Amino acid sequence: MEEKKMPLIGDKFPEMKVQTTKGTKQLPKEYEGQWFLLFSHPADFTPVCTTEFYAFQTRYDKFRELDTELIGLSVDQVFSHLKWEEWIEENLGEEIEFPIIADGMGQVANRLGLIHGGSASTTVRAVFIVDPKSTIRAILYYPAELGRNMDEFLRMIRGFQKADKEGVAIPANWPENELIKDRVIMPPANSTEMLKKRRKQEEDGEIECYDWWLCHRKP
Ligand code: BEZ
Repeated sequence: MEEKKMPLIGDKFPEMKVQTTKGTKQLPKEYEGQWFLLFSHPADFTPVCTTEFYAFQTRYDKFRELDTELIGLSVDQVFSHLKWEEWIEENLGEEIEFPIIADGMGQVANRLGLIHGGSASTTVRAVFIVDPKSTIRAILYYPAELGRNMDEFLRMIRGFQKADKEGVAIPANWPENELIKDRVIMPPANSTEMLKKRRKQEEDGEIECYDWWLCHRKP
């Protein structure tokens, strides 16, 4: 069988039919026109994963405000996901509202490169952020012993949306950057004409620059 290469940032999310706790879904087609964040976890009924599901669910409204859907995934059967969801609701008081892919045969995990190193059958903690054109914008991997920071994913999606809409770049730790706070970075000039434009913008106080290649403006 032909080995398909692991998807990378900038690739289209691979087309696949998946079984989830909310029925069968066609990825990425069913999510075209909106953002989605697909995250894998090692296994149901494990402690760190449980804290992650609770954290994703309690921020689900914030993701949806950013027109972003959540999709979980592990190499477990759908009945295991359903029992674990039931446990979370009964014991932690949160109903998991987003779908979780039941990848019992590991086909999705293998296609997305989620089985790493010594682990033959469980997925690493991975995150794919996919934009409305089904293009993969970010891929992140975490080890089993470290739970993820969901607020960072919200920050990333806000950053991507601002960068796309306004043609700017987003500084470190935005919107609390140590140098320029919530301001955003202008793409460096790549022609003499653009350089003149930047100088004029600087003179007019529209932008501020540390140097010609590090200019920023109000958010
Ligand atoms: C956890 O979620 O706690 C976990 C999962 C797999 C390996 C180790 C920890």
